[in-house]
Amino acid sequence: MNLNKYINQIIEGDCVEVMKNFDDEVIDLTVTSPPYDDLRNYKGFVFPFEYIAKELYRVTKQGGVVVWVVNDATINGNETGTSFKQALYFQQIGFNLHDTMIFRKTNPIPQIYRKRYNNEFEFMFVFSKGTVKTHNPLMVDCLHAGLELNGTTYKNFSKNEQTRENWQNQ
Ligand SMILES: C[S@@+](CC[C@H](N)C(=O)[O-])C[C@H]1O[C@@H](n2cnc3c(N)ncnc32)[C@H](O)[C@@H]1O
Repeated sequence: MNLNKYINQIIEGDCVEVMKNFDDEVIDLTVTSPPYDDLRNYKGFVFPFEYIAKELYRVTKQGGVVVWVVNDATINGNETGTSFKQALYFQQIGFNLHDTMIFRKTNPIPQIYRKRYNNEFEFMFVFSKGTVKTHNPLMVDCLHAGLELNGTTYKNFSKNEQTRENWQNQ
């Protein structure tokens, strides 16, 4: 199948049907926020998770990546754990769980009348098919910016030596 007709296009359709048209190992990156735990009704569309996960594995290139943004419903005070179960399933079918990131939401549902904290995030599981081919790190200063790792100690050669223990008290 010629992928060109999909390049720079928005395809409106059921991902199950659309992915069937793709050859094996043609996709570099998938970023998706799929439905989970039947929280909403999508006009009768169903979301067969395991089939979709396997199709994603089939169409992803070696070194390609799938970013899967999900959370869990809370039912009778019990988080479903769907997010973790899905992550483990992706591993089971061959993906690496390359990275687990947190997407911090700005519009969490307030939980002030319940005995729980506001859930202000969703998981962003980053799965790769084999070792990731491309890594473009965010170039933002972090706690250890400018320091060099010397064994298990971060060493700043331009200042005094600093250890993780010292940082903990700041
Ligand atoms: C949790 S929402 C994500 C919304 C998206 N992040 C946005 O900002 O618009 C899930 C989306 O998946 C779509 N969806 C549900 N089942 C689908 C399917 N089988 N194939 C493709 N999209 C589907 C829904 O229409 C909805 O837009």
